[in-house]
Amino acid sequence: MASDAPLEERTEGRGTADRGFDPADRLAERERRGLRRDLTPVADVAARSPIADDPGADEPVFDGPEQVIFAANDYLGLADDERVQRAAAETAREVGTGAGASRLVTGDTPAHRALERDLAAVKNAQRALAFSSGYATNVGVISALSPDVVFSDELNHASIVDGCRQAGAETVVYDHCDPSDLQARMDERARATRAGTDESWLVLTDSVFSMDGDVAPLETICDVVESFGAWLMVDEAHATGLYEGGGGIVQREGLSDRVHVQMGTLSKALGSQGGYVAGSESLIEHLLNAARSFVFSTGLAPPAAGAAREALRIAREDDAHRERLWENVARLRDGLDAAGYEVWGETQILPVVVGDRKDAMALDDRLREHDVVAPGIRPPTVPEGTSRIRVAPMATHTEDEIDRCLAAFREAGRELDLV
Ligand SMILES: Cc1ncc(COP(=O)(O)O)c(C=O)c1O
Repeated sequence: MASDAPLEERTEGRGTADRGFDPADRLAERERRGLRRDLTPVADVAARSPIADDPGADEPVFDGPEQVIFAANDYLGLADDERVQRAAAETAREVGTGAGASRLVTGDTPAHRALERDLAAVKNAQRALAFSSGYATNVGVISALSPDVVFSDELNHASIVDGCRQAGAETVVYDHCDPSDLQARMDERARATRAGTDESWLVLTDSVFSMDGDVAPLETICDVVESFGAWLMVDEAHATGLYEGGGGIVQREGLSDRVHVQMGTLSKALGSQGGYVAGSESLIEHLLNAARSFVFSTGLAPPAAGAAREALRIAREDDAHRERLWENVARLRDGLDAAGYEVWGETQILPVVVGDRKDAMALDDRLREHDVVAPGIRPPTVPEGTSRIRVAPMATHTEDEIDRCLAAFREAGRELDLV
């Protein structure tokens, strides 16, 4: 209730301190550290599109030539597929544009249930649950499991790191893709806690790593995890839809029944938005009660669920998109190798490692001058000395576009003395 006392009396003792924030100063600090980023508007989410400079609060102007985009995670090109777009529109008409409430109130629709049945079938799990983003899935699932200790690959995605923080779990980081280091750290913990039998342990790994394009040795990780009686959660964000029956690496390796928690996104190869988790009936029932990012957030938008379901159907039934993607990946990888670049990884993500951060950003700029968009990635996103261009081909790139990308790399590399 407002007081009638004079202002001086009401504010006495509070001093003249400024308790607000200075975002301009924080931005300047970011700029000084070379960490300031801008947005790059695209006219369409597709393999090719005009792009615009960041207009701030104004309307973007797309007046330049069309660029070939090697920067999206829409690996199968399904965000631009008529069937998927039609499914989104039909779901919006039949169910609504938004869920209107948390799934636990009145936001649980047939569109969500149908998608979840299909996801469970693809992931060979009893049941699946869709969240409003992959980020929300990782944070919600890890904190709802509330493990005492997590063992986490050093290159796991930021949403896993944030999930571990929110869970308040003691986090043990193991060397990237190294099951023997994982085993050593689990052994150490078991010894330190006299076999640690009353602690709950969760091992976390991406299956395909988003910046290195490599694949976790899941079978050996399963062996290690099982030998300690722990649980394994695998993030299939960059694999879902690309492997056996539209599944991920867990399906390619035949490990569905050895991974306790399978997580992924609808926002990459499925060309939509949202995240999912798949596992046992009791796990899903627990999560829909306890994952705060599920309980206290409006349900995934029904058109996104409808689009993801149609994209999943295409990924399951139609090999053509996947075949085109892997052909494009092979052509690009061979061409970059032949041009003298160092290309890491073994998947659709091609990290072209140039080392120095300035070289990587200069190469990014030169590629844009050749109408090719492929982002430079530098520390702290990747370790010092491994700055790179992350090249992500799509199924919908033509051979000619792959060749244009290669020509741009060859010319830009020569101009900058990198190859
Ligand atoms: C490995 C990994 N997990 C989770 C996410 C988060 O997914 P979403 O973009 O759907 O929030 C990402 C997104 O970049 C990712 O790369």
